[in-house]
Amino acid sequence: MTDEELETDRELDTDGELRGPETTGTGAAQPPATFDPPGILYELRQIERRYQRGSTPVLALKSLDLDIRAGEFLSIEGPSGSGKSTLLQLLGGLDVATAGTIRLDGQELGSCRDKSLTAIRSQQIGFVFQQFNLIPTLTALENVAIAMVPHHVRRADRVARATELLEGVGLGQRLDHLPSRLSGGEQQRVAIARALANRPRVIIADEPTGNLDSESANDVLGLLEELQTGDQPVTIIVATHDPEVAGRARRRVRLRDGAVVEDVAA
Ligand SMILES: Nc1ncnc2c1ncn2[C@@H]1O[C@H](COP(=O)(O)OP(=O)(O)OP(=O)(O)O)[C@@H](O)[C@H]1O
Ligand SMILES: [Mg+2]
Repeated sequence: MTDEELETDRELDTDGELRGPETTGTGAAQPPATFDPPGILYELRQIERRYQRGSTPVLALKSLDLDIRAGEFLSIEGPSGSGKSTLLQLLGGLDVATAGTIRLDGQELGSCRDKSLTAIRSQQIGFVFQQFNLIPTLTALENVAIAMVPHHVRRADRVARATELLEGVGLGQRLDHLPSRLSGGEQQRVAIARALANRPRVIIADEPTGNLDSESANDVLGLLEELQTGDQPVTIIVATHDPEVAGRARRRVRLRDGAVVEDVAA
């Protein structure tokens, strides 16, 4: 992909500038003055997500209430079909609930226009998926750098930051490799570097270790844990079947049939 093609993504974000955790809370995602209590990042109330399968409605989430504080490391567990991915999609602003409210920093996502939702997603949230979702024709460096294009980061700065992030995940020697020349664990580390490119407040990861051997999974978990150190820890929300992953979370939420059935601090 050429730089010109990358530039076409620019119109995605006209609502805000590149913002890191230190400046969030301004611009599009500014909380109303009345928002309380402090420290709550997500507030979900009576969430329902109804899908239509032919003529049959499917309630993937029902009457779900959940508060997530800034800086938490939260796992979402539960059997297949319990609603984990559906919940992550709502938290990430990739989908909207059919009933109920989701507030991120006091701002109700359901009432956002598509454009502000896109801005919130790209400024505040980093996504990591089981299948890595790297662009196969781009190198590791390009896969990370492309995430900064909507934020008008200059090319030289994109390359510098992508290089730094890839070095941070131990891939400084793999910058020019295409995904097909990387192992699964390496691809997921590129995906984590990409998720961090715009200094998100939240990392949303859906089965991030689902395709990895245990050693690579351990590396990936170590990287996520590193994000929790420092003054402004990144909030991490991970859906997983893997007890090893859930065991590293500091709070474990369990879903069954689209509702929270357990919520415990580890
Ligand atoms: N686009 C869709 N259309 C119809 N039904 C859907 C859709 N997406 C999810 N569902 C249904 O919603 C329910 C919850 O699905 P979801 O993918 O959130 O589960 P999950 O907990 O992530 O499962 P898994 O562990 O297998 O990934 C399931 O019954 C699923 O079949
Ligand atoms: Mg899922």
